[in-house]
Amino acid sequence: PAHAPLATQPLGLLGSLRAARENLLTILPEIATRQPMVSGRTGIRWHMVMEPGAIRRILLERVDDYPKSQATKNLLRPAIGESLFIAEGAHWRWQRRAAAPVFSRRNVQAMGPIMTAAATRATERIEAAGPRAVDMLDEMVRTTFDVISDVTFSGDDVFDSGAVHRAIDAYIAEAGKLSLLDMLGMPDWIPRPGRMFSGRAVAAMKTVADDAIEARRASGPRGTPDLLDLLLEGEDPETRRAMNTAELRDNLLTFIVAGHETTALTLSWALYLCAFDPEVQEKARQEAQSVLGTRTATGEDAAKLPFIRAIVDETLRLYPPAGIISRTARDHDTLCGRRVGPGDTVMIPIYALHRHHQLWDAPDAFRPERFADGAKVDRYAYLPFGDGPRVCIGASFALQEAVLVLATLLTRFRFSAVPGKSPRPVMILTLRPEGGVWLTAEPV
Ligand code: HEM
Repeated sequence: PAHAPLATQPLGLLGSLRAARENLLTILPEIATRQPMVSGRTGIRWHMVMEPGAIRRILLERVDDYPKSQATKNLLRPAIGESLFIAEGAHWRWQRRAAAPVFSRRNVQAMGPIMTAAATRATERIEAAGPRAVDMLDEMVRTTFDVISDVTFSGDDVFDSGAVHRAIDAYIAEAGKLSLLDMLGMPDWIPRPGRMFSGRAVAAMKTVADDAIEARRASGPRGTPDLLDLLLEGEDPETRRAMNTAELRDNLLTFIVAGHETTALTLSWALYLCAFDPEVQEKARQEAQSVLGTRTATGEDAAKLPFIRAIVDETLRLYPPAGIISRTARDHDTLCGRRVGPGDTVMIPIYALHRHHQLWDAPDAFRPERFADGAKVDRYAYLPFGDGPRVCIGASFALQEAVLVLATLLTRFRFSAVPGKSPRPVMILTLRPEGGVWLTAEPV
């Protein structure tokens, strides 16, 4: 198929991680942990784990023995504190219990109109751009940021979403450059520009969010409850503990950071794959048109769009935004017959797992029908949202948003690729299309 050259393109990683990538893609077909992948300077050991049973052990059975890696925490803590994403033990558990009801099916469905409104604004911008090629990555980042800021602070006047967006983007860009130092186990005293940056822009971003939270406490909910209202009402059902302002802010910023770019990447890769497969694109358009006609999509429509959902699932397989997840081993263990020691970094290379030839037929081909109704997919061969107790709390939110936005766009435009403008998948915190996703959008 036309998209094969891109789909088989190797994953680019930063700097000296290129060597690790070579190992990853050539040795891992044997399904083994790669040991030791040693950073000579510090002696830190890395293990790349792709065997489904071992992954289950790390993410589910022995979850307390494999806390999130120090690298992840160092990177994110300046922006999101000890929020749900990086907290451990009891501090993680109570936050998860307090936040879980916020993402109930009913609440997520109620946010459907916000998602569709953002998609409609995207179609207006694309139309206004005329017949020229459009960077759909850029468009989708705007769209998903609109959604997440509307569902967190529902357009509060005091919440300057533009300032928060700029601060988060700049932080992620800095953190991405610096992640290599952390991953290679550089001592903490080596200055990180990302952390210096965080001192200024992130402090300003936190103040903006704190002010918006305090204002909402005073005003109470207005209209359909958003994530802030739901979290303000929420409490841990076991301890009855509710979040204070700093905890609310850290978690809301976590949702913004974790939720917008990942979903935008999913959407732009999905559009890219559809642009290379006119048959799939046409089938998806017909499904969207038959369900939606000319009306606006709602949260309930997502379940009526199974083929579009399969495109999203298949996109998350080929281009998982969280291309790697990592943990630090707390204790001695044995994974796939190899010894793991306390302090070792254990990585699950989701990108490579999703293209493993022993786990998938024609792993590099774009075939949404793999995820057709009732299709069996090995649970530990497909982990775009992680697994176990720390599975992504926003998965159903992200899936609904991706389906509704994709359906809306496909009812309005026929997308085709722009020759000479192929993005290269690069792993910088998330799996991004370097150079953007340039597509021509022809009105249908
Ligand atoms: C956790 C992926 C969207 C909030 C995770 C994890 C993955 C992931 C792989 C687990 C990380 C690990 O185990 O180390 C994605 C992808 C998304 C997405 C691919 C979009 C396509 C969202 C959204 C939100 C969100 C929309 C919130 C609105 C979170 C939070 C966690 C998390 C809070 C941490 C959960 C915990 O540790 O208890 N995500 N995510 N994510 N995600 Fe997402």
